[in-house]
Amino acid sequence: MAKNYLPFEKVQAHPCFLDIAEWPDWRKVFGNDKPLKLEIGFGNGNFLIDMAVREPDSNFVAMDFYHKGIRKVITRLDRLQIPNVRLAYGDAKERIPGIFLDGELDEVYINFPDPWPKKRHHKRRLMKPPFIAMLSRKLKMEGSLRLATDHEEYFHEMIEFLNAESSLQNRHPDKGYITFREDTPRTKYERNFINAGKQIYYMDFIKCAEVAEPEPVSPALAP
Ligand SMILES: C[S@@+](CC[C@H](N)C(=O)[O-])C[C@H]1O[C@@H](n2cnc3c(N)ncnc32)[C@H](O)[C@@H]1O
Repeated sequence: MAKNYLPFEKVQAHPCFLDIAEWPDWRKVFGNDKPLKLEIGFGNGNFLIDMAVREPDSNFVAMDFYHKGIRKVITRLDRLQIPNVRLAYGDAKERIPGIFLDGELDEVYINFPDPWPKKRHHKRRLMKPPFIAMLSRKLKMEGSLRLATDHEEYFHEMIEFLNAESSLQNRHPDKGYITFREDTPRTKYERNFINAGKQIYYMDFIKCAEVAEPEPVSPALAP
């Protein structure tokens, strides 16, 4: 129940809550240089907390702007005394470019990004080519980008953009996805979709090359 969670004002003063736009030196934040992993859109935080407990030798940064989820996760981090998680507040598109160095991340997880099913809302979708290229830039070589969605149409759009990013290699090149993943905990949405008998599209990419810089536009061709 929401009333059992810390109020947002208290959350904002909590040492695990970061409202930052610049690189904080993550080694100083965590007090060690363990592998750095990012979850974008952690929602209620079930996946994040399970991962942090399973992998005490990794550091997890998780980004979202959903206040109730943030309150819930900070309350649970306190109760469970989990040391290897920080919540970064804000919009991933705006904040990630500034708060991570290129090549700094070992893994990025994006579980069930909002599909914005109405056509006029598709522009709000997170997984667009510039965002994918930016995430790849933040991954270290052989780092991984792991995604899941239940939404078939968004899956097709995402996989087309992801396959087109030449710095990323699809680990499931035959179909582009798998329908079952064993090595990660289930998120709240994932459990609900599986219980409802829906197919899940799991996508896994590996950073295999530097991200190509966009071709400069010739002044003669510029609009
Ligand atoms: C559909 S929910 C999925 C939550 C969780 N990953 C799960 O599977 O249960 C999408 C989450 O992404 C967050 N989100 C959406 N756009 C975001 C953005 N641009 N930056 C950070 N978080 C975002 C939402 O607030 C929400 O918590």
